[in-house]
Amino acid sequence: MELMNLLRTRRTYRRFDEDRQVPGEVVDEILEAARYASSAANKQPLTYVVVQDPKKVREVFGYTKWAAYLPAEQGQPREGERPTLFIGVVENLDRNQNCDTDAGLAISNMTLAAWNRGVGSCMIGACDKKALSEMFGLTEKQVLHTVVAFGYPTHESHIVDIEHPEAPDAVKYYLDGNRDFVVPKRKLADVVKYL
Ligand SMILES: Cc1cc2nc3c(=O)[nH]c(=O)nc-3n(C[C@H](O)[C@H](O)[C@H](O)COP(=O)(O)O)c2cc1C
Repeated sequence: MELMNLLRTRRTYRRFDEDRQVPGEVVDEILEAARYASSAANKQPLTYVVVQDPKKVREVFGYTKWAAYLPAEQGQPREGERPTLFIGVVENLDRNQNCDTDAGLAISNMTLAAWNRGVGSCMIGACDKKALSEMFGLTEKQVLHTVVAFGYPTHESHIVDIEHPEAPDAVKYYLDGNRDFVVPKRKLADVVKYL
């Protein structure tokens, strides 16, 4: 896909075709993309836990929260709509204690590589990290940064300009009449200052 088009359409997806697995070669490409990401002092402190076994995916799903701006019946994927793959992003503190930017870059690469192959994703910060760390067998030197959900989306998502940035609900995404996500983004003029 052409780069700007890829960036514009790589949105957060929250409903998937649960019957369609992400093929191994695409999973490999997603992980390879994470490996290509820049890293502070090139310390490469991140490692990845891949969960694709349907039973384990269900277990991870149970520890995740979706679409906080929406009522659960609209935002939470239902049975049959759930992701088929989770990748846990793990910070290894013995390599670097400050992994946040590294993690953001790796996750960005992963979600873009996935979307380039038609696989949608949702980064999940709101998850039970204690339970997941236990499930993933993390040591005391390892901290779970995030889990990222993947699958083939069954809805669309598009961005719209925020016309009234001061309105209290200005940044809240919502569903349109087709149950597609609409994601308000601040206009360039509202976020850029030229000196
Ligand atoms: C750090 C971070 C944490 C997030 N955590 C969650 C989450 O726990 N659950 C969820 O449904 N979406 C989560 N998201 C997705 C955001 O809600 C989404 O990026 C935002 O609404 C903008 O939509 P877009 O990604 O399509 O631009 C997270 C995104 C980021 C960057």
